[in-house]
Amino acid sequence: MKSKKFYLTTPLYYVNGSPHIGHAYTSVSADVLARYRRMLGDKVYFLTGTDEHGQKIAKSAHDEGYSDIKAFCDVIVDRFIQVWKLLGISYDDFIRTTECRHEETVKKILDQLYKSGDIYESEYQGWYCLPCETFWLDNQIENNLCPDCRRGVEHIKEKNYFLKISKYKLWLKNYLDDNKDFIQPQSRFNEVYSFLNNELNDLCISRPKDRVSWGISIPFDDRYVTYVWFEALLNYITAPGFLKSDDFSITWPADVHLMAKDILRYHAVYWPIMLHMLDLEPPKMVFAHGWWLMEEGSKMSKSKGNVIDPLKFVEKYGSDSLRYFLLREVSFGSDGSFSEQGFIKRVNSDLANDFGNLVFRTLNMVMKYYDGFIPESESAKSECDSVFKDTVENLNARVNNFMLKLDYQKALECIWQLIALANKYIEVKAPWNLKNNNPKELDHMIYTLSDLIRIILIALAPFM
Ligand code: MSP
Repeated sequence: MKSKKFYLTTPLYYVNGSPHIGHAYTSVSADVLARYRRMLGDKVYFLTGTDEHGQKIAKSAHDEGYSDIKAFCDVIVDRFIQVWKLLGISYDDFIRTTECRHEETVKKILDQLYKSGDIYESEYQGWYCLPCETFWLDNQIENNLCPDCRRGVEHIKEKNYFLKISKYKLWLKNYLDDNKDFIQPQSRFNEVYSFLNNELNDLCISRPKDRVSWGISIPFDDRYVTYVWFEALLNYITAPGFLKSDDFSITWPADVHLMAKDILRYHAVYWPIMLHMLDLEPPKMVFAHGWWLMEEGSKMSKSKGNVIDPLKFVEKYGSDSLRYFLLREVSFGSDGSFSEQGFIKRVNSDLANDFGNLVFRTLNMVMKYYDGFIPESESAKSECDSVFKDTVENLNARVNNFMLKLDYQKALECIWQLIALANKYIEVKAPWNLKNNNPKELDHMIYTLSDLIRIILIALAPFM
């Protein structure tokens, strides 16, 4: 049987600072999905990488004392790679927006869209938020603050190039009508859909070099560089070889783009329209998960400086427990509040007590009563005990049902139901009393418990 391709992505993380737990969250969730799909037999292409152009990055390099911006990016990229390695992120490709393969294709795409008339030149007058690198109109600004990040904006007037987004608004609305599962979770679909009831402005996709020079030159006007968001989104097609490789048509469309809710609009509005302009299909699913907040309720972010360093955390607690906590603690799609106490509580109760005890008690008996060898038991082999039968037989189907919806929390809960049953089985049957009066029953129990642990470990393999 030919294996099915499965293409999934994380956002390309900005390299204006080191990775934090928020970035780790998206990468861990993508990794779990990638590992799960590989176990199903899919041919997975898991893409991640870094977003390296734009004024924000240039400013960070400057603030850190680097005159060579690329050298600064190299240092931060190494930190991302180091954290991904530590967390076991099994990506197949890592793209940096400063790589030739990306720049070349971005330039070809710009040329193509300029020729087709989807890019045009016009005068821009309005407000600009430097940290978000976003333009705003008068009616979107209050008290000279960016509506997104609440930081100060500056007024500017300049010639720029624009992408004719507005022309395709109706097409996108029709597409959403016909593809209700395109944006997940459903509440985010509704948000995007109602956003489209407003006027949709064309997107300014250039920045004059006298203001921002760190970027990809516009091929038909080298006084400008490309707007970071426009080129960064294109990574999802430049990496699998758009305009370069025959394999591109096998890989595209992406099966899942993963991100947090703050950047959903770029992925669910601008990106499908850009693809439509290029005559390409939209991705199959765009999933926006929630934010990890600090206990006081503010979003963990580099620019706020309230981040948790995954390197230090993993050094202290190990990567499996962090991976488990991130996906088990909150429902994927909702916000969560990150605290070390919350982490310790969850890990102690689920990993140490529930699962740890099951494994410890079982292995202890294997050592004590059987010299470290799992006993043979024809009765255990031929029939699963009735208490487990349903849970074991339906485990894969139930986990699969939740994994298709990216409901990691529920998938883990299914696995933990089996762990709870196994612990109860030990308590009720008190195997330590069987050694002398019913050794066959003890063989049966220890074989059954060992087999359950095997089943649980397989189900847990993508997570830990
Ligand atoms: N460079 C853009 C993305 C371009 S994609 C073509 C960007 N980068 S970012 O470094 O700010 O990373 C944003 C992503 O990091 C979020 O969408 C999310 O996946 C992850 N997170 C960053 N902070 C987070 C939290 N506090 N909580 C959850 N996820 C977080 O935006």
